[in-house]
Amino acid sequence: MGTEQVFHMNGGEGDTSYANNSSHQFNFKQRNGVLKGKPILEEIIRKVYCTINPKCLKVADLGCASGPNALMMVNDIINIVESTSFNFNRKPPSFQFYMNDLPSNDFNTIFKSLAQFYETLEEKKGPRFGPCFINATPGTFYKRLFPDNSIHFFHSTYSVHWLSQPPEELTNGAEAYNMDNIYLTSTNPPETYKAYLRQFQHDFKLFLKSRSEELVPGGAIFLTFVGRKNTPEIRTVFGLLGMSLNDMVLENLIEGAKLEFFNMPLYSPTAEEAKAVIEEEGSFTIQRLESMMLGWDANINEDELDENSRCEFIAKTFRAITETLLKARFGEDIMDELYLRLKNKLIQMLMKGEKLESPNLVISLVKKSYKDANGNGATQVL
Ligand SMILES: C[S@@+](CC[C@H](N)C(=O)[O-])C[C@H]1O[C@@H](n2cnc3c(N)ncnc32)[C@H](O)[C@@H]1O
Repeated sequence: MGTEQVFHMNGGEGDTSYANNSSHQFNFKQRNGVLKGKPILEEIIRKVYCTINPKCLKVADLGCASGPNALMMVNDIINIVESTSFNFNRKPPSFQFYMNDLPSNDFNTIFKSLAQFYETLEEKKGPRFGPCFINATPGTFYKRLFPDNSIHFFHSTYSVHWLSQPPEELTNGAEAYNMDNIYLTSTNPPETYKAYLRQFQHDFKLFLKSRSEELVPGGAIFLTFVGRKNTPEIRTVFGLLGMSLNDMVLENLIEGAKLEFFNMPLYSPTAEEAKAVIEEEGSFTIQRLESMMLGWDANINEDELDENSRCEFIAKTFRAITETLLKARFGEDIMDELYLRLKNKLIQMLMKGEKLESPNLVISLVKKSYKDANGNGATQVL
């Protein structure tokens, strides 16, 4: 079964749901985002709005998941456009938002919160504002999702590091074969890393090409996703999950063959790798491309919580993100045990004084208006 059929964040609003365990992403937008990511979002939205000046601003969020993060970006964008309209003494546009994710995403939790969302919006903004329409667009963002020239702005946070599939070379006995690991670690052969990079380059290029066809001239993309430092040590939560799965194989809790051929459909590129794909694909001018470190438990106050609580928080966040994939492969029965072991490995890392953090890439891109015969383009001057 492909990633598309199995993968989604834990749905609903229960203890292990993404809705209740997505504050790492939430915090990035709220706190660190205020410092760095948010100004980049504001800058690019203003540019799109002032350049195009649409009657109805059409925005799509790619990989929206469910829970509070999904509608937070709608709020953010409305606020930015509203304040820009005020500054230029313009009537604010109406808004159409398309919430995209894979078809198995829990769209219902978003739909159920819409009535309250619209009501609060009306109360806060008053009658001069809007209206605002929110639709869902299920499907993979590695294919076309919208008609030609129909969208003004794409927004996507913490989604584009998910690949369309794990690289096939990792399971076919070739040099890249990734026997004991489920992702890149410092012990992989270089071929494993190259196979992951090739898959990312292939997928990210398709992503950019599809979006460039869907964007109107002057349209733009804002992306945030998990990146990697350019160092040989690749330490991630997925590395720790792989170690926990290995321990469980040794204790006969999991069949070795199940682990041998399992790899996460995920790649965290370096800033240079992401930049190279954008330049090679050729449809966009890079407005900003920045890398910033963010703790895996960045939204909780480290001084107030003990190690156990911090690591429990991180393990729960990653459970909400990875459980559907791992459950489909290893079975539901071992899930509690697996994430308990993940928490314990995180505690061991903390005790050794290691930092629980990763680089996050924040990128804004503007669509070029044409491509010449060599695939090079130029930004439209309006
Ligand atoms: C970690 S969540 C991020 C959710 C939200 N944007 C946020 O910032 O909290 C990643 C989301 O990307 C979605 N996703 C992954 N691959 C996708 C694809 N090819 N097409 C559409 N959505 C995808 C997943 O289903 C998941 O809901």
